[in-house]
Amino acid sequence: MNLIQEKFAELDGQTITTFTMINDQGMEVSTIDYGCTITRIVVPDRNGTLENVVLGFDTIEEYQQHSPYFGAVVGRHAGRIANAEFTLEGTTYHLAKNNNGNHLHGGIKGLDKVIWNTEVVEEKDSLTLVFTYLSKDGEEGYPGNLKMKISYTLNNDNELQISYEGVSDQKTVVNVTNHSYFNLSGNLKRDVLNHKLTLKSNRFLELDEELIPTGEILPVENTSFDFLSGRKIMEGTDTNDSQNIIAGNGYDHPFLLTDNHNKEIYLFDDESGRGLIIETNQPAVVLYTGNQLADDFSIRGINSRKYLGLCLETQGLPDSLNHPHFPSAILEKDQGYYSVTKYIFTN
Ligand code: BGC
Repeated sequence: MNLIQEKFAELDGQTITTFTMINDQGMEVSTIDYGCTITRIVVPDRNGTLENVVLGFDTIEEYQQHSPYFGAVVGRHAGRIANAEFTLEGTTYHLAKNNNGNHLHGGIKGLDKVIWNTEVVEEKDSLTLVFTYLSKDGEEGYPGNLKMKISYTLNNDNELQISYEGVSDQKTVVNVTNHSYFNLSGNLKRDVLNHKLTLKSNRFLELDEELIPTGEILPVENTSFDFLSGRKIMEGTDTNDSQNIIAGNGYDHPFLLTDNHNKEIYLFDDESGRGLIIETNQPAVVLYTGNQLADDFSIRGINSRKYLGLCLETQGLPDSLNHPHFPSAILEKDQGYYSVTKYIFTN
C-alpha cells in the first residue's frame, strides 16, 4: 500500500491537499480534504487496464463553479427537506434554502464545501484517511454542535469502505452520504445508459414535481423501478412512467433496501467488465442517474452531459422529519450516529 500527498489548491489562505491511496493491485483512490471529495477512483477493467470511474476535476475552481456535489460528502442532511424546515420537540428549525425554496444536501455551505482535518492511518493491508470536522450549532440552520468523523479505508481486495460517525450536544438530525458519480466505462468513454443495476429493493418513494417525497411508498413490481433481477439504466430514461419523467427522464429516487451488508447493490458495465458491489447498513439508496447534469463545462476534457455518471447514495430517507412513517433521522444528544458503506470493485 502506498500513500501520496500533494498540494491541490489554496483556498482562503488554507492549503487543500490531495491524498492518493494506492493498493498492491494498482487501484487508486484520490481524495481532497475539501468536502472529503473523492476526485478519482482508478480500477482495472477485465483486461487489467486501469482507468478512472468517477466524475471529478483537477482544480478547485471547477469544483466551486460546476460541481453538482461530484464525489463529496453531503450533509448534515442529504437529499431534500421540504420548505427547508422541520420541527423537533416543538421548535421549528429554518434551514438554508438552496433548491427552489427547499433545502438540498446540507445547504449553501454544507459539509461538501468545508475543509476537513485529516489524519492517515497505515496498516499492513489497508490505508485509512480519517477526516474530522466540527459543524457548529446553527450551521446552515441545524441545531447542535455536531462532531463528525469520516473514515475512508482502501484495502488490497479493491474495497473502499466509508464510515461516518457523529455526535451532537443537542438533539438534532443527521443523514450523510457520499455523492460520487460512477461511470464504469473508464475515463468517461461512454455514458451510463448501458450500465446494468441490480438492487435488493421492492419499494421506492414516490416524488412530487419538486422531487420531494409525497409520503407514498410504492411497490416496484411491474415498473421500471424493479431492479430485483437487474435492469439497464436506459429502461428508466426512455419510458412513459410519470415518476421517471418527473425526475427529468431517469431516476432520482430513494429505494428501500430489503437487505444489508449482502451485495444489496450491484452495478455492472458489460463492455469494460467492471462491476461495483455496494453494501451498507443504511435503510435506503438514492439512485440519481445524472438527469440534471449540465452540458456547459468539461470534465477532464470530456463534455459534461446528461447520464454521464450515476450516484448510488446510501442513506436514510429524505424529508423523513416531515413523514413520521419513514425511518427517523433524529440523533439524540450525546448518542452516536454511525453509517457505513463498502464499495467493492470487480473486473
Ligand atoms: C439529487 C438531484 C440533484 C443532484 C445534484 C442528487 O442527489 O437527488 O436531484 O440534481 O443531487 O444536485
